[in-house]
Amino acid sequence: MKICCIGAGYVGGPTMAMIAKQCADIPVHVVDLNEQRIDAWNSDQLPIYEPGLDEVVREARGRNLTFSTQVDAAIAEADMIFISVNTPTKTFGIGAGRAANLEFVEKCARQIARVSSGHKIVVEKSTLPVRTAEAVKRILANASTNASFDVLSNPEFLAEGTAIQDLLAPDRVLIGGESQAAIQSLVDVYARWVKKDRILTTNLWSSELSKLTANAFLAQRVSSINSISALCEATGADVDEVARAIGTDSRIGPKFLKASVGFGGSCFQKDILNLVYLCEHFGLHEAAAYWDQVVIMNDYQKRRFASNMVKTMFNTVSDKQIGMLGWAFKKDTNDTRESAAIYVCRDLLLERTRVHVYDPQVSETQIRADLEYLLRDESGELSSYKKSLIDNVKVVPDAYAAAKDSHAIAVMTEWDEFKNLDYSKIYTNMPQPAFVFDGRNILDREKLSNIGFEVHAIGKSRPTVG
Ligand code: UDX
Ligand code: ADP
Repeated sequence: MKICCIGAGYVGGPTMAMIAKQCADIPVHVVDLNEQRIDAWNSDQLPIYEPGLDEVVREARGRNLTFSTQVDAAIAEADMIFISVNTPTKTFGIGAGRAANLEFVEKCARQIARVSSGHKIVVEKSTLPVRTAEAVKRILANASTNASFDVLSNPEFLAEGTAIQDLLAPDRVLIGGESQAAIQSLVDVYARWVKKDRILTTNLWSSELSKLTANAFLAQRVSSINSISALCEATGADVDEVARAIGTDSRIGPKFLKASVGFGGSCFQKDILNLVYLCEHFGLHEAAAYWDQVVIMNDYQKRRFASNMVKTMFNTVSDKQIGMLGWAFKKDTNDTRESAAIYVCRDLLLERTRVHVYDPQVSETQIRADLEYLLRDESGELSSYKKSLIDNVKVVPDAYAAAKDSHAIAVMTEWDEFKNLDYSKIYTNMPQPAFVFDGRNILDREKLSNIGFEVHAIGKSRPTVG
């Protein structure tokens, strides 16, 4: 048995590293078109930051884990091929802003069809709209070779930042398919380290839909608590107390009730929009509107955070400086896709603020690319005005540099290191009144208030201003 994975990203890389670690006798070949990314996988500086990943890669790389750009050769040799390429939301044409762009998946399927011989099992790992397997099957069926194929859906449930733990001890592994023999081959791989009762098998469509549904339910919890955070700020209730009170109800449970500046990441928004598109496609307009509201709520939360900052700082932030702590969409990852920080920064730049950004894992190149992408116009161009706004961003090497001379600091990502900064020192280097906007509710509000800061947090009643 030989495995190949097309796509060496946040999903393909860690997942294949774990399979290779657990199955020393199975050669696992991860391929990607992006040469720079592959070079990084083969170096000591992996392209993604994920706690524990280095050790797993070091153990298996060179033994049974290989990274290369030899896509055709890897497909030809493999018995089982995982498709783990990106499926971003379409930005153009029919379904723009909602449907998934399946260009990369389709290209993979065509490539597999072109170079395969014998029997292959093709596994969809990327998150896909329901019935994508149908399209993949049809492309494979039209292969001009005499190869035969089985298609499986095996959605990934790992969360970034905890990927290694999630892969090591998953709540469940989901495998959807039509051929029992093909399903069994993949069950046998996972069964090396996952208990049999945690490996669920379903039909293809249930598996595809379960992935979208899981993410929609998780995101819905965050949007629900965030909607309550707005009400807490207005009424004097405390959102963390409310979350604790409802989370101890075993029917509700404590997880994913952390109010925040808004959810980000490559999955939540994309998958909900996918679900919305799917509902619309089947004429289920009320179901579509129901799920759409989760995204609308999230957009509101991001906007609300930025506008609260402006309002609090005497209705003007132009020519002021703001220190942003964190850029990644959550802690322990260098991934910035859909991060709330990008949107909040955009809103502040439009108010003509100067922003000093610090994130422990995100590069300046990435931060600038994220802003340029968000601020471009419909044709994809970045106007000279928007470019001049981005020039007001400075990426700095630590939190102290971000705070120095800033009128406010804003916590965008819950990195642990932000909890224990020397806030007395920070305070003395800021103009007064010095504001703190905690978008993650990780700071000790009492301690900061005692130092002299005016602290604003999500879902907490506002200190009296003025
Ligand atoms: C998610 C799913 O959890 C995972 O199963 C799926 O495979 C991919 O999508 P991920 O995007 O890596 O994983 O991160 P997750 O931990 O789910 O967080 C998503 C966003 O929600 C982050 O921006 C996070 O900060 C935010 N969040 C999460 C909250 O604001 N509050 C919470 O209580 C939980
Ligand atoms: P995810 O978070 O889903 O893993 P990423 O964008 O991090 O998404 O990774 C997807 C990877 O798939 C990228 O590195 C991209 O270069 C790669 N990719 C996309 N299409 C192809 C293809 N046809 N052949 C090989 N690699 C591809």
